[in-house]
Amino acid sequence: MALDALLEEVRNGDLPTHVGIIMDGNGRWAKARGLSRLEGHRQGALTAERIVRFVVKERLFPYLTLFAFSTENWARPRHEVDGLFALLESFLREKTEEFIDSGIRLLVVGDHRPLPEGLRAVIEEIEKKTANNETLTLAIALNFGGRWAILRAAKDLLRAARSIALGPEEVGEELFRAYLPTGSLPDMDFLIRTGGRLRISNFLLWELAYTELYFTDTLWPDFDEEALLYALKDFQRRERSFGKVKG
Ligand code: IPE
Ligand code: IPE
Ligand code: MG
Repeated sequence: MALDALLEEVRNGDLPTHVGIIMDGNGRWAKARGLSRLEGHRQGALTAERIVRFVVKERLFPYLTLFAFSTENWARPRHEVDGLFALLESFLREKTEEFIDSGIRLLVVGDHRPLPEGLRAVIEEIEKKTANNETLTLAIALNFGGRWAILRAAKDLLRAARSIALGPEEVGEELFRAYLPTGSLPDMDFLIRTGGRLRISNFLLWELAYTELYFTDTLWPDFDEEALLYALKDFQRRERSFGKVKG
């Protein structure tokens, strides 16, 4: 189907508000071509850029969260980790103006502290400069782990409880959720994982409670506008009952 016709079809159905993507498969994409894993990540960054531009241009949904680096990815060879951070830093530097002009609000969720100085600086700068943008909130999960996020929320809540005399019975889901690094984002409606693995790999845990999951074998560097639209069409066929009986 031509892209325009597909887009038209997708527009006629209900679209999600918040989409997440586990961008997996860069290494395998590179290996299949005899290239270095970093070359795969470079191609993956281009795919991310392309998808973000498309979502903004077509105003498909207002929240997109991309999983870029997990708390477990530190276990990769040093040169791959350094290369990934260098790539992210230059990607963000290059994109600053475009983010500002196209109405993207950038948010980096994850533990910033162990990241290289230069990367932290550019993140802070873009977050500040784009804080009032409204077209698309782009959350990049960087040095993020679902367990880290829940643990951090619990610790922050314990600290707050001490100073504001908050009892355990007063802690409800809504309050706890506000302490998560994703506290300012709406629930995730749809999660796409590329690269064929059928797992969450310590991405969002609390937030995925009622998210529709979509797995595709397509490797992230091969994912494109058409693949995103087909995924959204699949989302539109789902019946979301949230535990209730459809009456
Ligand atoms: C995902 O691609 C990107 C990151 C984890 C940064 P991979 O690097 O995991 O690619 P595969 O899974 O080895 O193909
Ligand atoms: C998940 O991919 C993390 C990101 C895409 C950033 P991994 O390649 O790290 O996950 P596993 O190792 O297959 O579970
Ligand atoms: Mg992988």
